[in-house]
Amino acid sequence: MRLEGKVTIIMGAGQTLGSTVGNGRATALLFAREGAKVLAVDRDPASAEETVRLIGAEGGEAAAREADVTDEASVEAAISDCAAKWGRVDVLHNNVGISVAGGDAVVTEITTEAFDRVMAVNLRGTVMACKHALPHMRRQGSGVIVNISSIAAVENYPWVAYKASKAAIVAFTQQLAIQNAEYGIRANVILPGLMDTPMAVDTRARAFGRPREEIAAERDARVPLRNKMGSAWDVAHAALFLASEEAGFITGAALPVDGGASCRVG
Ligand SMILES: NC(=O)c1ccc[n+]([C@@H]2O[C@H](COP(=O)([O-])OP(=O)(O)OC[C@H]3O[C@@H](n4cnc5c(N)ncnc54)[C@H](O)[C@@H]3O)[C@@H](O)[C@H]2O)c1
Repeated sequence: MRLEGKVTIIMGAGQTLGSTVGNGRATALLFAREGAKVLAVDRDPASAEETVRLIGAEGGEAAAREADVTDEASVEAAISDCAAKWGRVDVLHNNVGISVAGGDAVVTEITTEAFDRVMAVNLRGTVMACKHALPHMRRQGSGVIVNISSIAAVENYPWVAYKASKAAIVAFTQQLAIQNAEYGIRANVILPGLMDTPMAVDTRARAFGRPREEIAAERDARVPLRNKMGSAWDVAHAALFLASEEAGFITGAALPVDGGASCRVG
């Protein structure tokens, strides 16, 4: 029970359709198993409700809330509802992110619309959620923020907006950490590598009209550790550690969860 009694908000707690579990849903389930109350926030209310149903079936406590991270008012409302319902905000986990689904492209083909869409969802959405959670955390004199970037921030990655947004999330997290240390608030960022999630595998299969197995096999082959992608549970366990008191002296850290991919330089 490493999050016993903690009030947690997971932005992007639903998931893209597919045969495996997504990072956000796995994190919500794991937080609840460790004793946290979970506000499952998502643009897709049915998907957030499904996460809440799964948590309830395991005996955990959770509620669903519809919000689009590109709409600041809906983000603010979700966070104040959480504080009103459970009295505080202990952990904010920013999982929302889009890539292929946002129309991202190589630099010679990127459109203004696609660039703005990916940036608004990935970067501005993360910033706005922090903006509205921080006043609660500062008042409490404690809080934890876990942001989800990607190893795309540092590796050779084909598309422009996803990479830039995820690199900016690393810099933003460092700024959050230093500017909120005096309030007892910690902020860290996870850089997932190649994970076997619907967002990464099924979305590519749909977008490029290729079999899921083929995309999965290509991704497996690129992972140094055992030539096998990680799962959403690997990201969830890293998030649990950073959210828990075990990481009580860790702030401003950028943690790769990538099976060694970021060590393979050259
Ligand atoms: N899967 C990977 O291989 C991989 C690798 C690196 C980083 N990541 C990062 O992990 C995170 C997502 O992982 P996941 O497996 O949970 O993905 P997912 O697509 O299954 O879940 C993301 C959730 O966010 C929601 N969402 C999308 N846009 C939204 C918006 N504007 N407002 C509110 N909710 C919105 C979706 O409805 C979905 O339920 C992203 O930040 C992604 O960049 C994933």
